[in-house]
Amino acid sequence: MDSIVVTGGGPLQGEIPIAGAKNACLALMPATLLSEEPLTLTNAPRLSDIKTMTTLLQSLGAEATSLQDGQVLAMSSHDLTSSRADYDIVRKMRASNLVLGPLIARMGHAEVSLPGGCAIGARPMDLHIFGLEKLGAEIELSEGYLHAKAPGGLKGAQIDLDFASVGATENIVMAATLAKGTTVLTNAAREPEIVDLVRCLRAMGAEIDGEGTSRIEIQGVDRLGGATHQVVADRIELGTYMLAPAIAGGEVECLGGRMELVESFVGKLNEAGIEVEETKRGLKVTHTNGRPKAIDVTTEPFPGFPTDLQAQMMAMLCTAEGSSQLNETIFENRFMHAPELTRMGAEIEVQGGMATVTGVDKLRGAPVMATDLRASISLILAGLAAEGETVVSRVYHLDRGYEHVVRKLRGVGAQIERVKA
Ligand code: UD1
Repeated sequence: MDSIVVTGGGPLQGEIPIAGAKNACLALMPATLLSEEPLTLTNAPRLSDIKTMTTLLQSLGAEATSLQDGQVLAMSSHDLTSSRADYDIVRKMRASNLVLGPLIARMGHAEVSLPGGCAIGARPMDLHIFGLEKLGAEIELSEGYLHAKAPGGLKGAQIDLDFASVGATENIVMAATLAKGTTVLTNAAREPEIVDLVRCLRAMGAEIDGEGTSRIEIQGVDRLGGATHQVVADRIELGTYMLAPAIAGGEVECLGGRMELVESFVGKLNEAGIEVEETKRGLKVTHTNGRPKAIDVTTEPFPGFPTDLQAQMMAMLCTAEGSSQLNETIFENRFMHAPELTRMGAEIEVQGGMATVTGVDKLRGAPVMATDLRASISLILAGLAAEGETVVSRVYHLDRGYEHVVRKLRGVGAQIERVKA
């Protein structure tokens, strides 16, 4: 298995282009299942998770072709041949469960394996099931698969989610576009990826209001058409690379970054003494004066601080002046990076969902590995300013969510290389 070797060094300087959002693209791709006409996505990220979703759509009979070096995805679901999302594909990625709502809406039935994905907690699907059942689906679990059918078709309903789940909101909104009548979804997730999905569905002819708020109203239509849609910028990749100069020092401009995607995160950077400036081309981060200050961070659904940036923020706080508290409220088991950062000399104490990080002067390079995507990149970020060499193994996690990570960080002067196994 490949590994990534980072040698800690001096300040970073330059630009990093931000790709289209993985999590938006993974919700947009299944939207093709709702229509017989083509759906084309531009600004798609080049990631293994996108390939997994492509394989899943193809296994259902959809055409999915990647063009222009993977940045354009041309899809068509004119002739679907299957409604079964197989365990072999779904276990690789939890977002595979986003085919459930579209398949029930379009075909009247679906068999979807329960998902795998990052090992960061139990991650059940009860809210997806609750919402789809409200729309009239009948869903049973047997032999590891959800068996869903909607013999009389889906009907609009009032749905109030107990928790603003991103995936459940996406599945319910997609299914409701083809349901009869009006669906009102309350306590809906407000993430920018949901706003992006709704914009695309609207371009396909769906009637939806309220995206970006916690109340989304969907007026069902008989059919959806085709569309071409540009995937929104990846706010998690953006936040990740904004942390690189915050950790290693220097000045980095993240091209395509937009403040409204990362406001709560930028608020925390500012509190830690890191400067962020909006430029014509994106967001520029400057950090030249010593160690960042310790801060407390609580992860929350959007617009709060994103759980997907918690591990990377911890990497920065390892060398902050003072003691920081990180409170993880979204996933119950999302501190697997903490013991690895400790191997690099960090002082971290984890108790349940709370981590206390006492900043040290400097981290030291070490061989490390991580068991999920965001944890892996946090170790690379930590390695950028550590003394000596950090070797990060299990690189396949990174390939799921960060395109060209070595090229992008080298572009700003980092000493980093991928070593083939
Ligand atoms: C999405 C993102 C993921 C991000 C997460 C939270 C994608 C592809 N992935 O994941 O990167 O970390 O949002 O911002 O977009 N839950 C239930 N029952 C359910 C559904 C979820 O209890 O039916 C729980 C989960 O176990 C978890 C929490 O709700 O503890 C958040 O999950 P959710 O918002 O659904 O996240 P995902 O859509 O899986």
